[in-house]
Amino acid sequence: MPLNLRIPGPTPLPPDVLEVTGGPMINHRGPLFKEIIDRMTRNMQTLLQTEGDVYFTTSSGTGAMETAVVNVLSPGDRVLSVSIGTFGDRFGDLAEAYGADVTRFTTKLGDAAEPDVVRAAIRDADPYKAILLTHNDTSTAVQNDLAALSAMIHAESDALILVDAVSSAGGTPLAIDAWGLDMVATASQKAWTAAPGIGVIAVSEKAWQAYEQSTMPKFYFDIAQYRRFLEIGQPPFTPALSTIYGLDLSLQQLVDEGLESVLARHSDRARQTREGVKRIGLELFCEERVASDTVTAIKVPDGVDGIAVIAKMRDELDVEISGGQGALVGKIWRIGHMGWCEPEHIDDCIAALEKALARD
Ligand SMILES: Cc1ncc(COP(=O)(O)O)c(C=O)c1O
Repeated sequence: MPLNLRIPGPTPLPPDVLEVTGGPMINHRGPLFKEIIDRMTRNMQTLLQTEGDVYFTTSSGTGAMETAVVNVLSPGDRVLSVSIGTFGDRFGDLAEAYGADVTRFTTKLGDAAEPDVVRAAIRDADPYKAILLTHNDTSTAVQNDLAALSAMIHAESDALILVDAVSSAGGTPLAIDAWGLDMVATASQKAWTAAPGIGVIAVSEKAWQAYEQSTMPKFYFDIAQYRRFLEIGQPPFTPALSTIYGLDLSLQQLVDEGLESVLARHSDRARQTREGVKRIGLELFCEERVASDTVTAIKVPDGVDGIAVIAKMRDELDVEISGGQGALVGKIWRIGHMGWCEPEHIDDCIAALEKALARD
């Protein structure tokens, strides 16, 4: 049996996506590419529940986050970075690297950002130009209530809402237009069931207005270039064609399946994982009410070498899970269940974890 890759991205690819990913190169300035990019754009808009602009960058998710920041902000702009983990910290670091004046709001690891607490942070300060949110922080496997957070922000301020949806989009409810989100970043290798290499950025009308004022330096990720080229069905630069072939197929499959079914599948798999973890006597890292639909974090029990268990599962049992990051190294395990994930993949993973622990 091939390795059961249960890390929270890159995700395993089903045989048909894998096969098209190995397809022949085409002219990215020809009619076939136009057909592909037009279809991908339409399908991504459907899945992200937006009629606004959607662009595909040749980058990982961090490049899409950078696209969000550099196109709507200027050096010195006041930004509130709401972080619930490593990736929220990264979003704040990124804005700071480009000269934004970043105020950090951080929660205890394992907690979500509660709208009432963030509200107080907004009320207590001068107005912010933008608020950075992580929808699902993969480092702690905690999912923010993005609908409630964005509704609160709209009631309290005119700030732009920039969202890291890298590990949520395609696996967790996300309604860009209904929730009034301005820049939303995601990436091919997560719930979208494609190889790494393509970032996705959704851009609202309000974000386009902010673009006109933005003076942060930008070139490769300048959304005006993407807009201009998409009008003629082309990318501004040579794209990662192999990844695009797989992403195109996978997006079409997700649209054909229907968003409701895709999301129900993810929450079923998340529930199955949490139940399996508890059944073998382990404890979840966060409260179930904030637990992610795409990744589950588990506490490493006292006296267990968490890193050795991961190695044993990978080397002896053909299942690979992730450990913690930063302050959580050795303290948690993380099981990915986004994208292509059948119930048997989770059963196999939980069984391997139980076996590895019994031998520890
Ligand atoms: C929530 C979140 N944000 C950002 C990133 C960064 O994405 P990438 O590694 O594709 O640059 C990741 C990757 O795991 C992520 O999970």
